[in-house]
Amino acid sequence: MSSFSILATAKAVPEKIVTNDDLAKIMDTSDEWISKRTGIKQRRIATKETNTSLSAEVASQLLKNGNVDANDIDFIIVATMSGDYHMPSTASAVQGIVGAKNAVAFDISAACSGFVFATHVMHSLFELKPNALGMVIGSEKMSNLINWEDRTTAVLFGDGAGGMLVSNQGDGEVLSSNLKNYGDRREALLAGHILGNETFGPRDDDDTDRYLHMDGREVFNFATKNVPLSIKEAAEKAGIELSDINHFVLHQANARIIKSVARKLGVSKDKFPININLYGNTSAASEPILLSEMMENGLIAKGDIIALSGFGGGLTTGTVILRY
Ligand code: ACO
Repeated sequence: MSSFSILATAKAVPEKIVTNDDLAKIMDTSDEWISKRTGIKQRRIATKETNTSLSAEVASQLLKNGNVDANDIDFIIVATMSGDYHMPSTASAVQGIVGAKNAVAFDISAACSGFVFATHVMHSLFELKPNALGMVIGSEKMSNLINWEDRTTAVLFGDGAGGMLVSNQGDGEVLSSNLKNYGDRREALLAGHILGNETFGPRDDDDTDRYLHMDGREVFNFATKNVPLSIKEAAEKAGIELSDINHFVLHQANARIIKSVARKLGVSKDKFPININLYGNTSAASEPILLSEMMENGLIAKGDIIALSGFGGGLTTGTVILRY
């Protein structure tokens, strides 16, 4: 298998901060309920930013931080479920904006597991070309999909983007990937229903199915059972012990889920960084935003083993274990 080295990471989040107290002014909720049940204190909500502008900002920073020319990028994958358009793909817009004229660019839709799925696909693409450079970006404007009158979901999500510049040269490597779909449980998380054409003529634009719907309990139980399993299987595939993993960079959906996963794996929760307090659940963007902050703060050393693990709509789980 080829190398898989992270050359740079980056994040871009909207300027506007919305605190739990801000939400309590527009819906029947409280800072106490949100903090206690989820660990979230605030989230970023896009006002002037778009999904495209956030992911393009990440791509520009990756070029700068990695000190590479846009012409040298071979592949761009954006994981998103909240693109500004059904077409073009967000990745194609990013390719155009940063002028990566030699890059093949496309989106991946795997909800909150999107970043892990995209990382796996990038690793597979790397087999096709020696000396390749790629960008894996997770970007979401979840606020477009939220029903701001539904307190059971509106308090959970935030907007943002993050990503990594990767190369198939160097010392880094992917040790294993473990992706799973549970399509029979797809109705536990739904968003963005597209109105059908059942009747000819004007359509019912009040269709609330376009907003995010979630069976919170079902997803909570799914995650606390299947994320530990996903990580254990990935470690087995990699031929390593859980204790060999230095950082568990998990999808930030709920601090209680992350702590439960740590407990079930018997691993110290100190190895499970959390930033959901600042950003809420940014879906496919949550892991690269966290990874980028850890890199910025010098928390990851060369040779460290990182488990990236996500779960979400589909339903899906995904873990990629890599050596930095
Ligand atoms: N403020 C105040 N009260 C609320 C709120 C709110 N924002 N939301 C719900 N409540 C109330 C409910 O109405 C309920 O009241 P009742 O007991 O009078 O009926 C009570 O709080 C408890 O509600 P539950 O839903 O049982 O609360 P729970 O402890 O399960 O926490 C939560 C809910 C936080 C959503 C949790 O179930 C969870 O985190 N689930 C997983 C969500 C998740 O990970 N989603 C991932 C999405 S990934 C993707 O692909 C998009």
